[in-house]
Amino acid sequence: MTERIVLAYSGGLDTSVAIGWIGEATGAEVIAVAVDVGQGGESLEDIRQRALACGAVEAYVADARDEFANDYAMPTLKANALYQGHYPLVSAISRPVIVKHLVKAAREFGATTVAHGCTGKGNDQVRFEVGIQTLGPDLKCIAPVRDLALTRDKAIAFAEAKGLPIETTKKNPYSIDQNVWGRAVETGYLEDIWNAPTKDIYDYTATPEFPPAPDEVIITFAQGVPVAIDGHKVSPLQAIQELNRRAGAQGVGRIDVVEDRLVGIKSREIYEAPGAMALITAHKHLEDITIEREQARFKAAVGQRWSELVYDGQWFSPLKRSLDAFIEDTQQYVSGDIRMTLHGGAAIVNGRRSDTSLYDFDLATYDTGDTFDQSQARGFIELWGMSSKVASTRDQRAAGK
Ligand code: ARG
Repeated sequence: MTERIVLAYSGGLDTSVAIGWIGEATGAEVIAVAVDVGQGGESLEDIRQRALACGAVEAYVADARDEFANDYAMPTLKANALYQGHYPLVSAISRPVIVKHLVKAAREFGATTVAHGCTGKGNDQVRFEVGIQTLGPDLKCIAPVRDLALTRDKAIAFAEAKGLPIETTKKNPYSIDQNVWGRAVETGYLEDIWNAPTKDIYDYTATPEFPPAPDEVIITFAQGVPVAIDGHKVSPLQAIQELNRRAGAQGVGRIDVVEDRLVGIKSREIYEAPGAMALITAHKHLEDITIEREQARFKAAVGQRWSELVYDGQWFSPLKRSLDAFIEDTQQYVSGDIRMTLHGGAAIVNGRRSDTSLYDFDLATYDTGDTFDQSQARGFIELWGMSSKVASTRDQRAAGK
């Protein structure tokens, strides 16, 4: 039987050419798999037809938008995950859901190998292949751009020679990856890290310098997940979509960073994640009133480690699973409302309320009616500083003072 290869298909030039290129290089049949994670643009049916026209024996499209929002974006929100303090893991969390569908398709169509369109310099090759190794240890991986010398020039020549139904003339200087959680743009003149991004880079956000009137929004959370916006029930996907629209209109969620790739390169990326950044901001502020101090401090460190694992392609790892269990446990009382104003590039929280809040007005107030016994503070401070005081006395003695 002819060998079969499942290809992660985007509909673009590289993966369209990869269908025939892989076929010629390996003699295998290619099954194209496209996964909708809310990237927008062309209809999935158009993408499916193009894959078939480019020589795929089968083309399979999966609507994974709710799955992506529920099982990938929501854990990221619960972790308040920002890699290196900035990046809400837009591309990093889409790879594992795509991997799931690739492995599923490989089983359904009897394929032995999975192919993806990544280069050998980025993180995504790692995320795809570590994910595939984990979910389908018997499956082989191949990356035509990296392993079969499919360069851009060769791709254009191949598409023209074979008359493939794909645009080869339109030169986009950027590499773009997008889904409902955000958008990532790199390469071109952005590789000079002193160059400021120009307006044409952005798509999810309007220029924050000239914002419309401020937009006040109330986000209701239940156990760490948004369940209503301005009193209207929403699914996680709808919450992200609505905030992409409203925070995006105010230019919220633009990020310009030089980040540390797993392969050891520092690279510059422009992100737009209006919904994700508005939600993470609101969620963090709700945690501030509903999570106990020590648990909150520890959770911040766990969230950072979680972000690194996910960035580094370890979505399906045991440590990530254990950290998920910790994070999930912390979300038990993260329920309530956050009011925030979206305006001029900022999402500013200005009100919070929760039935499970730890904020105690009577303890916090400086007005009369205060229940906090201030006389206890003196003794507490004396003991709290004791070990440093003892050590300092010893230090001074040792220094001969
Ligand atoms: N640097 C991001 C990451 O590794 C995004 C990668 C894809 N970016 C792109 N513009 N194609 O997660």
